[in-house]
Amino acid sequence: MKKTIAAVSFSLIALSGCNQTTDKQQLIVGTNATFPPFEYVGGASGSDIIGFDIDLAKQIAADAGKELVVKDMKFDSLIVALNAGKIDMIAAGMTITPERQKSVAFSAPYYEATQVVITQADYHGISTSTDLTGKKVAVQLGSTGDGMATELGSHVAAFNTGFEAVMELSNGKVDAVLFDSQPASNLIAKKPQLQLHTMEFEPEYYGFAVAKDNAELVAQINTTLQTMQSNGSYTTLLNTYMK
Ligand code: ARG
Repeated sequence: MKKTIAAVSFSLIALSGCNQTTDKQQLIVGTNATFPPFEYVGGASGSDIIGFDIDLAKQIAADAGKELVVKDMKFDSLIVALNAGKIDMIAAGMTITPERQKSVAFSAPYYEATQVVITQADYHGISTSTDLTGKKVAVQLGSTGDGMATELGSHVAAFNTGFEAVMELSNGKVDAVLFDSQPASNLIAKKPQLQLHTMEFEPEYYGFAVAKDNAELVAQINTTLQTMQSNGSYTTLLNTYMK
């Protein structure tokens, strides 16, 4: 009899916890799966969300004893979703910036990146970042590239994905795309008519974002990152995803 009562009350707890971010059994991670090799749609089924960040998130969830749930959304709505309690963590190649730190907490940095400029291969009008001033530049909406192009005084065309920004360039509608280097080289692979230019941009550091009051999750993420760095699995992931 005792057993039955325990079983019943357990299933009630399990039920009442369903679909809520307060559910102790799930780690709900928000991403924008248009950023290869960090997060993109692919895999065996062709419709899985996979990538470097997703593998890191898997390990973070596993170490915390939770089931990983990945929610794909627009990049510029991730912080809103986090602060509305719809997701527990952002894993989206998100650069740690002082502006974002006003509204979210970041894990330790886990990847160093930089912006690059993509142009048509036969275009020679941009050789330093200041050449972006007054040029038509396509970016991903809400990205650091978006902020930088705006600051540099470009005519900014912002899209929901880097892919669309590159399309705009391919179609001759803009002079350049400003985007993170790894995804940029992924997006222009097999497009010999486009060229990537590295310039003197400051390094950026990606971090996982969590709600400001969630110090416990920050600590858990950092512990997993440290362990993965010391046991070599972080390097294995780098070798798997970064070409
Ligand atoms: N690192 C850049 C930023 O934080 C771009 C990130 C875009 N990420 C994505 N999953 N689409 O703004």
